[in-house]
Amino acid sequence: MQETKKGLEGIVALDTSISFIDGMQGILKYRGIDIEHLAEMSYETISYLLINGILPGEQELAAYSNRLKSERRINGEMIDIMRVCNYGTEALDSLRTAISCTAHMDHENDNNSLDANKNKAVRLIAKLPTMIAALYRCKSGDFPFQPDETLSHGANFLYMLRGEAPSAIEAEAIEKDFILSAEHELNPSTFALRIAASTLADVYSAIITGLCTLKGPLHGGARRGVMEMLDEVAVPENANNYVLYKLSRKEKIMGFGHRVYRTYDPRSRIFKDMAKRVAKENGDPTWYEVAESLEHVMYREFLDVRGRPIYPNVDFYSAVIYKYLRIPPELATSVFAIGRVSGWTAHCFEQYADNRVIRPRAHYI
Ligand code: ACO
Repeated sequence: MQETKKGLEGIVALDTSISFIDGMQGILKYRGIDIEHLAEMSYETISYLLINGILPGEQELAAYSNRLKSERRINGEMIDIMRVCNYGTEALDSLRTAISCTAHMDHENDNNSLDANKNKAVRLIAKLPTMIAALYRCKSGDFPFQPDETLSHGANFLYMLRGEAPSAIEAEAIEKDFILSAEHELNPSTFALRIAASTLADVYSAIITGLCTLKGPLHGGARRGVMEMLDEVAVPENANNYVLYKLSRKEKIMGFGHRVYRTYDPRSRIFKDMAKRVAKENGDPTWYEVAESLEHVMYREFLDVRGRPIYPNVDFYSAVIYKYLRIPPELATSVFAIGRVSGWTAHCFEQYADNRVIRPRAHYI
């Protein structure tokens, strides 16, 4: 039997046409298109691209956008469930339950045809922002706001969360967040989900598998960790001592490092620029400056001690943006899932289309 590769590092597990990463050169493409180009489009366009494999024409996009908008609402039963399943400190635990309930309420749940599965994808993409905003509002004892169909996917989410429409820069920032979070090849949650799909489990079951895997602090949960770290560090002058103290205790600094990238993550570059613009509009650049100081110290320490720098990953500057957008830390991992659900559903379809059950071996010791 072959030698064990801890963490499956470097193992190529399957073929995909959904995304491409060059970790040495810092290149990321969805369906053959560079992320820098995609970041200028709408999230609806990107989700269409991921699910259908091609960019929509004007008419297709208008029809898709209308479908998504018409599916944004959640019913009263769902809101009642959210009031009950809302005790923990992490919104994702409740979101998991909410998605499970959506499956019960979906008349196509048992239909595993591609058409029915694409309908489920539309429902999930449309409803996730509404569910998360409703969870937050219910927890504070407030009534959820109804979705506003005149607003974009991102702007509508911020509206439902805060009760006021965001500024143009805030709307651009959250839209970019959803786009840049939408897909990333065989990251842990997508791989977990593909294993579930390979057993021919239904789309909702596979998505919940992905969602549960996203929760961990070494994966999507790092975004919340970064938000908490920004508060803890508080001012740029504290960054040096904070990093040195954590590294001396062999603790991880959230939002740094990546299994695949050996250079700057192209998504982080776009997030960094966006974070700077959001900070400027806000008028208080402190969180942005704290983040820049942490990046600087981490780069220096890794280069000095290990001869190789470490770079911010997708969770780092996105967390700075969340601070400025007033997204509560307990929602951070769930908000990541709003973007990622398009990539997840695309991977489900790809797995179903050319399936063999994913079942590796273990080395017995
Ligand atoms: N802080 C401190 N040390 C780090 C960090 C970090 N953020 N990242 C890596 N290292 C250290 C490791 O401890 C390891 O040290 P060692 O050789 O003394 O054991 C060395 O750098 C090599 O790193 P690995 O752990 O081999 O990296 P791996 O590929 O296994 O893990 C991971 C990648 C999980 C992202 C890691 O960098 C990490 O834990 N980062 C912090 C959590 C985080 O930000 N996760 C989000 C990733 S992006 C995403 O999933 C959406």
